[in-house]
Amino acid sequence: MSSIERVAAFLRQHRLRESDVDVAAVQGAFLEEMDAGLAGRPSSLAMIPAYVTIDRPVPADTVVTVMDAGGTNLRVGTVRFSSAGVPEISDFERRPMPGVGVAVSRDEFFDCLAERLRPMAKASSRLGFCFSYATEISPDCDGRLLYWTKEIQAPDVVGCQIGAELNRRLQAMGCGTKRIVILNDTIATLLAGKSLGAARRYEDYTGVIVGTGSNAAYVEQNANIRKLGGLPAGAMAINMESGGFGRCPRTDLDEAFDATLKDPGTQILEKMTAGGYLGGLGLQVLRTAAREGVLSPAAGAVLASWKDLSTKDLDDFLANPFRPGPFQNDAFTAADLEAVMLLGTAILRRAALLIAVHITTPVLKTGHGRSPLHPVCVTVDGSTYYKTTALQSRVEEHVRRILGERGVHAELVRVDDAPLIGAAVAGLTA
Ligand code: BGC
Repeated sequence: MSSIERVAAFLRQHRLRESDVDVAAVQGAFLEEMDAGLAGRPSSLAMIPAYVTIDRPVPADTVVTVMDAGGTNLRVGTVRFSSAGVPEISDFERRPMPGVGVAVSRDEFFDCLAERLRPMAKASSRLGFCFSYATEISPDCDGRLLYWTKEIQAPDVVGCQIGAELNRRLQAMGCGTKRIVILNDTIATLLAGKSLGAARRYEDYTGVIVGTGSNAAYVEQNANIRKLGGLPAGAMAINMESGGFGRCPRTDLDEAFDATLKDPGTQILEKMTAGGYLGGLGLQVLRTAAREGVLSPAAGAVLASWKDLSTKDLDDFLANPFRPGPFQNDAFTAADLEAVMLLGTAILRRAALLIAVHITTPVLKTGHGRSPLHPVCVTVDGSTYYKTTALQSRVEEHVRRILGERGVHAELVRVDDAPLIGAAVAGLTA
């Protein structure tokens, strides 16, 4: 058997091919979980109401402080929109996110955030804080962290009111308190698309992140958010926390990889699609392939000795298997490299299809985009989406097919610095 045939048999046996994903079934399960989450029934989707409406005018020439806590970086700056609605970001600074790699206490975590804000304490009395974790939002737009994802190590922060804790630290530093608006990065991304897309007259807006983690947001009618009684008529954005979607067709390889992580059994879709995990999943797949004779024993021994494999290293190899990197090791024969290429590509192809399902399901849930005059605007953010080889083009192809078959029109849109811009919109309008 050639290495190509051995890989094909391996992918078939472990059900790791795109064709092993039944798109209609996954989409149906997704919609069911969305409804259950909105009704407050058990669901793998938290479906968190954001208390953000998308139609408030954004004041021009008003400075707002913004902060963006993501899976890797903590970014701060100030934003001002011109009278033409063009955002201008200033005082921009990027530092590592506290709790990445090294555990921090609650005080260390909030002190670190407050320290980052101190230099711009006088810039504005308002702070739009894009906090990219599962956070329950209250009607006053503060947020309580429900649980960490992306392997952040700051366990005492779970359950805290993020805005109130931060204000306490700012006050103690003599910086005064601020009107802090907490929002998820998907909501910020949706708002960024809305604030810059007005001229196109989209019918609706969604926001999607494919970065270290993955998640989506869309706008739901208040009447359908059955777990919250007494809402006025209208609509609000919902943070789906869809990286947690639990009814994906997992393979034994996904399960084995998940068992090596800090939070097994959670964030199932995220672990099949997001940059924080694709490299690790790749290493799991390659090691299993070596054990099953798809790769040479020498390559298997090298793979077994690696502590981890980053998504970037895997992707760099797929982009050019001959550039320097971990796979440039004499233990890998040409047949091994060919097999690594095919296995890595299979993981990314499946990820692309699942990301397309992830993107299209909230679009379908809106019921909008029936006219090509007024498509749904899907703003996508996240370095994994834009930097991983061929991921974006593969996703776009699937999205076009899935929505085209249903007569739904959507445009995938990129807004640079969407989390910061959306945080500014929320900080100025909520
Ligand atoms: C978090 C989400 C976030 C997503 C993308 C996930 O791990 O739970 O809140 O939107 O990552 O950053």
